[in-house]
Amino acid sequence: MKFLLVTDLDHTLVGDDEATQVLNQRLQSNLRSKICLVYATGRSYASTCELIAHKQLLEPDYLIAGVGSEIYQDGILDLDWAEYLSQDWDKMAIASLAQQFSQLKPQSPKEQNPWKISYSLEPAAENSSTVQALQQKLTESRLPAQIIFSSNRDVDILPKTSNKGNALTYLQKRLQIPSEATLVCGDSGNDISMFQQDVRGVIVANALSELLEWHRECGTENHYLAGAACAWGIMEGMAYFWEF
Ligand code: GLC
Ligand code: MG
Repeated sequence: MKFLLVTDLDHTLVGDDEATQVLNQRLQSNLRSKICLVYATGRSYASTCELIAHKQLLEPDYLIAGVGSEIYQDGILDLDWAEYLSQDWDKMAIASLAQQFSQLKPQSPKEQNPWKISYSLEPAAENSSTVQALQQKLTESRLPAQIIFSSNRDVDILPKTSNKGNALTYLQKRLQIPSEATLVCGDSGNDISMFQQDVRGVIVANALSELLEWHRECGTENHYLAGAACAWGIMEGMAYFWEF
């Protein structure tokens, strides 16, 4: 049986270069054949490839990019997933509704894709009310979509069926890997959907308050709060759940 390791990149696998290298070596030397390695990131495919090259990350078996809006295997987009997300998703109508919110600044065109509309908010206390108001407008307009708010700044609008968690469950089912053999790792709001799946999860010590708050309210014995940051925390979680 294979183990499924699904990790966020920024501030989880990447963030402490020494830790990343130690984990890479461990995976490469004796675990690589036992583990199906998946990266789940908010980054676009192109930006993820740059990070993989720059930080000398291992090539993953699958890449969940754009907060779950795209899944790649060997550089090829999963068209079944794309088709699934395209149902009940009116990108143009949603984008024109979001434009009415002057606080929402569109992120660069490189961060947009057919199933992800991303904005940034300036740091401000009322940001979560802006996000709530946007959600309400979408609901009133009967436009199915979910909003993922991270770092008190990033606002991603995705199809209801998308997000990192749903994407990883799609892969987990396809690969038939049981929940106790699936470990997810993350640090921020766009990782919450991963912890909500039938999996084990490690929250790295440097996690943002939005994820720590979720853990306080909804965490179970399947969620481990690591004492160490970034990839050291991933290794701690692997030892805790898998005794690796
Ligand atoms: C990454 C993406 C950005 C997204 C953010 C939060 O930074 O590049 O588009 O908004 O993650 O999910
Ligand atoms: Mg992160």
